[in-house]
Amino acid sequence: MAPPRTLLVTGGGIGGGIGIGRATALAFARAGWHVVVTDILEAEGRGVAAEIVAGGGSASFAVLDVRSTMQADAVAAAVLSERGAIDAVVLNAGIARKVPLAQLSDERWDDTVDLDLKGMFRVARAALSSMRARRTGSVVCLTSLMGVAWGWTEHVHYSAAKAGVIGLMRGLAAEVAADGVRANAVSPGYVRTAQLLSAEHSLGPEGVGLAATRVPLGRVGEPEDIADVILFLASDSARYVTGQVIVADGGLAIVPQ
Ligand SMILES: NC(=O)c1ccc[n+]([C@@H]2O[C@H](COP(=O)([O-])OP(=O)(O)OC[C@H]3O[C@@H](n4cnc5c(N)ncnc54)[C@H](O)[C@@H]3O)[C@@H](O)[C@H]2O)c1
Repeated sequence: MAPPRTLLVTGGGIGGGIGIGRATALAFARAGWHVVVTDILEAEGRGVAAEIVAGGGSASFAVLDVRSTMQADAVAAAVLSERGAIDAVVLNAGIARKVPLAQLSDERWDDTVDLDLKGMFRVARAALSSMRARRTGSVVCLTSLMGVAWGWTEHVHYSAAKAGVIGLMRGLAAEVAADGVRANAVSPGYVRTAQLLSAEHSLGPEGVGLAATRVPLGRVGEPEDIADVILFLASDSARYVTGQVIVADGGLAIVPQ
């Protein structure tokens, strides 16, 4: 029997039922993958890996701050040495910080782009050479409706980074396709996570309630709604899909707001 395939997910540490990264880790584990949960939050990340193992799955944890090339390279090398392969990477870590244009200094711009865009590049680069050598593998990036279709006031840096993720994904997809490796992106709309529930940086609890009334499917998304799309893109069912963005937003983008 073939050994379980290995997933490396970034930003997988948020527990307590919220977090797209955690939901992704659990969905892949349920599908029989070994999951390497990574995050800057060590206790939380270990908790997600332990949750998977307690449920009969296979998982481990590694600290990975996606702002560090050294950590990205070291974690990928360690997974390759322990598991022999990285079959999929889910580039999920990303933050949205509300900053009005007048206060959007070079430093704040750079911080967001370094984490939300270059952070994905670093981890993809660290994993892709072994995928190309094995002539199999899949990269899934998290973009946003704010990068695909909408602007977001006081989040210019975030929108720019998320639009950049699509360019990154398409460039990677084109370059690695001949080696049998795929890259795609998922664009959530509103998903009930710590990020969306932050009143300081995003909609906050009240705003989430209001947003739900504007979603054609009648509710904001749950992390599992996104995780299942990510799992599809990494699976053999999507073997002929590369360079694409799948919008999973309950229909938000197709109706006038
Ligand atoms: N929640 C939404 O409505 C929504 C909508 C569109 C896109 N997204 C995108 O989906 C992804 C996940 O979003 P979420 O809502 O689950 O976010 P979240 O804030 O709930 O979780 C993000 C995770 O990333 C981790 N993280 C933060 N900085 C990191 C770093 N430097 N290195 C590694 N990990 C780091 C956090 O510890 C956390 O576990 C993000 O890329 C986000 O931009 C979310």
